[in-house]
Amino acid sequence: PVIHREDYRPFPWRVPTTDLAFELGIEKTRITATLAVERNPDAEPSDRLRLNGDGITAQSVTVDGEAVNDWEMDGPDLVLPLAGDAHTVEIVTEIDPSANTQLMGLYASNGMLCTQCEAEGFRRITFFPDRPDVLSTYRVRMSGPKEQFPILLCNGNRAAEGENGDGTHWAEWHDPWPKPSYLFALVAGDLVANSGDFTTVSGRRVECNIWVRREDLARTDHALESLHRSMRWDEETFGREYDLDLYNIVAVSDFNMGAMENKGLNVFNTKYVLADKDTATDGDFDAVEGVIAHEYFHNWSGNRITCRDWFQLSLKEGFTVLRDQLFSQDMRGEAVKRIEDVRILRAAQFPEDAGPLAHPIRPDSYREISNFYTATVYNKGAEVIRMMRSMAGEERFRKGTDLYFERHDGEAATCEDFVRAIEDGAGLDLTQFRLWYSQAGTPRVRVSHEVAGDGIRITLSQQVPATPGQAKKQPMVIPLRLAVHSKANETTGTEHIAVLTEAEQVFEYPLTGPDPVISINRGFTAPVIVERELARDDLVFLAAHDDDPFARYEALQELAVDHLVAAASGETSEGGEAALVEAFRAILADGTLDDAMRGELMMLPSETYLFEAMAGSGATGTRKADPGAIHAARERLKAAIGSGCAEELDALYDRAEEVAFDDPAGRGARKVKAQVLVYAAASDPAKAAEMAARQYDRADNMTDRQGALMVLAGLEAPEREERLADFYDRYRGNDLVIDKWFTLQALSLHPQVIAQVEALAQHRDFTIRNPNRVRSLYMAFAGNPQGFHAQDGAGYRMIADLILKLDPINPQTAARFVSPLGRWRRIEPKRAALMKAELERIAEADNLSRDTYEQVSRSLDG
Ligand code: ARG
Ligand code: ZN
Repeated sequence: PVIHREDYRPFPWRVPTTDLAFELGIEKTRITATLAVERNPDAEPSDRLRLNGDGITAQSVTVDGEAVNDWEMDGPDLVLPLAGDAHTVEIVTEIDPSANTQLMGLYASNGMLCTQCEAEGFRRITFFPDRPDVLSTYRVRMSGPKEQFPILLCNGNRAAEGENGDGTHWAEWHDPWPKPSYLFALVAGDLVANSGDFTTVSGRRVECNIWVRREDLARTDHALESLHRSMRWDEETFGREYDLDLYNIVAVSDFNMGAMENKGLNVFNTKYVLADKDTATDGDFDAVEGVIAHEYFHNWSGNRITCRDWFQLSLKEGFTVLRDQLFSQDMRGEAVKRIEDVRILRAAQFPEDAGPLAHPIRPDSYREISNFYTATVYNKGAEVIRMMRSMAGEERFRKGTDLYFERHDGEAATCEDFVRAIEDGAGLDLTQFRLWYSQAGTPRVRVSHEVAGDGIRITLSQQVPATPGQAKKQPMVIPLRLAVHSKANETTGTEHIAVLTEAEQVFEYPLTGPDPVISINRGFTAPVIVERELARDDLVFLAAHDDDPFARYEALQELAVDHLVAAASGETSEGGEAALVEAFRAILADGTLDDAMRGELMMLPSETYLFEAMAGSGATGTRKADPGAIHAARERLKAAIGSGCAEELDALYDRAEEVAFDDPAGRGARKVKAQVLVYAAASDPAKAAEMAARQYDRADNMTDRQGALMVLAGLEAPEREERLADFYDRYRGNDLVIDKWFTLQALSLHPQVIAQVEALAQHRDFTIRNPNRVRSLYMAFAGNPQGFHAQDGAGYRMIADLILKLDPINPQTAARFVSPLGRWRRIEPKRAALMKAELERIAEADNLSRDTYEQVSRSLDG
């Protein structure tokens, strides 16, 4: 069945309190749920109570203490006739957590028990109105064998605990804040904590704990410090204070996503908790900090104010992603973080918006909500709110968010509520801006200009492409920060903000000098594709001189995209390569840049991004992407830069090598070293093998070690096997690092990558039951254009085989592998046919999950 946003109706009953008693066991857990229910005066009355279930059966049902049997099952749901105004309903269920391979609901992981309830996992534990607009106050009693589960955790505060005298013990938890069922969490296991108090701005002492297995304790300091920094930042930046005396985070190794913001008891993928310099890269440290912040910020944007229904998901996710991005910008530097975030948007969201799975940030319908935890809802959702902030300015935006938190605290709200609060609080008119919530597709903005006397007339026009179910689009509100520089004077102009609201519009600005060059969408104020026909010289000028660091990055990317798309299309790109080598040389020589920024500027656009740029390009706009040609052109350019700038790159490497790990410049140094190796591998593989092996052997940290091994993995050199074997032996038993070992082989540029991935799937450490391990091998492979897009279709077949095998075990994770195959319409015909055939083969399988069925059918129809 398809669920439609328009069909929302409030639930006929309220559930003011929920009491849960868990008798815990890995193979058998018994749950007694006691719900106080009363009529909802704001809903259409009903004489039935529908409680959602999924794969569970009721052992008994009582109403007001009397056993009843006039209930019935309607599919997975339990429907109970209910006449009066208020009742107590008690239901007993029994489940087997060890058999829960979907990792939704209550499941076993490494001998412990934990939960994941968002979006619809609670109904796999007990029958309940499992929808985010039913808020209830929970009291939970858990009991179980003490030796197996010495630690018993739940949401809120611990109210009481004790021994039963038979080897079992119990704990009672009470969460004073009413919450929807998707925020429920429970953990039982043999865990230890890294603890550290935090005192809030108004003086509340909060006990913070990071719970892990004993052997992981030494790698939890960064997570705890990140939590404390997030708590302080949210007080200072958004005026949000924590509201319980306890904040627990538990790391589990089997987890479908990154982490979960359950009230007072976050459950995290170990990947986003554990980090130390020997086992985690700089990027891993950043990801831990970002996800810890994200889940913490949800306490206000998600928990205190939740979503009315799942169509509103971006209300909490888009806003919370923006909040974690702003936090990381403040912690680590604005420009570099912005570039990283835009890179992610372009790699993950732009392709989604251009393909069969395109949907607005507030979707109109779905079959399986798990399929809508997407880059569009999360990352484009964040960009949309960021645009409001850019238009309002920081101060007025804060007035808007203050009003939102004040007005809707304790409610299940909608995206519309958020927009209205920003309008009222910040004093904006967002009438037309709301189209960002309903229209899918990445807008394209064309820029042209003419000089008129001492002014410039800039014509901006926009076009929003058709997407599945949305043929016609209206013009959007597109705020663009821009400046007009003078190339002749080498001067930069003042910054303006042009807000494009019509299909075509003219903006006039004074000129500051002759030979104007427009710098537009500075800081990436709008999530659009800018199409400007800038002379190569102008791009080179911007890459070298723009005063906005993002715009410098952008100019360099554009130079590379123009050249690479032309080269991959068999067009001559006269002088394109030489211009890039020169621009690169300037970046390497620029003493005003720090290495963290230099490292960003040194990264060529990804093949996925080039794929998007090539598809639909050309004179008629009907060109198809050719991944083989893109890959070849990009490797050629890397080789040209590597040999053209060999001396400068070597000098940079030597300088960076002198920087110690803890030096404030250390991160930047490690980043540029990794880039130097990448270029060396393309231009002089023998030298690269030697440099990388040396870096690997001397490394005192994972960033250098992984960077070196990544390059070695792509080379046909003896150093490759030796170092891969060394890495495996060194880290055997450390799951997160062994994941890296799988990933860097699956991502490698090695010509035999398909055979290698096939062999790795047979490795004793590979298991299809652990999502991190599956992703470490196959998501990495699906993101390796050379392997995935192999001409004979072997890569497509491998991913389709995986989907079919994984679907019965973990449908949510299986469905995530469909989108790479879904890009078939934008690709050259031979590969397109192979991809489509694999989608059709999946579609024909029996008993496909709702998750995978939805993604495959959309991919074939869209
Ligand atoms: N709310 C979580 C977060 O973004 C993600 C949970 C997703 N769960 C799922 N089953 N799709 O922090
Ligand atoms: Zn989130």
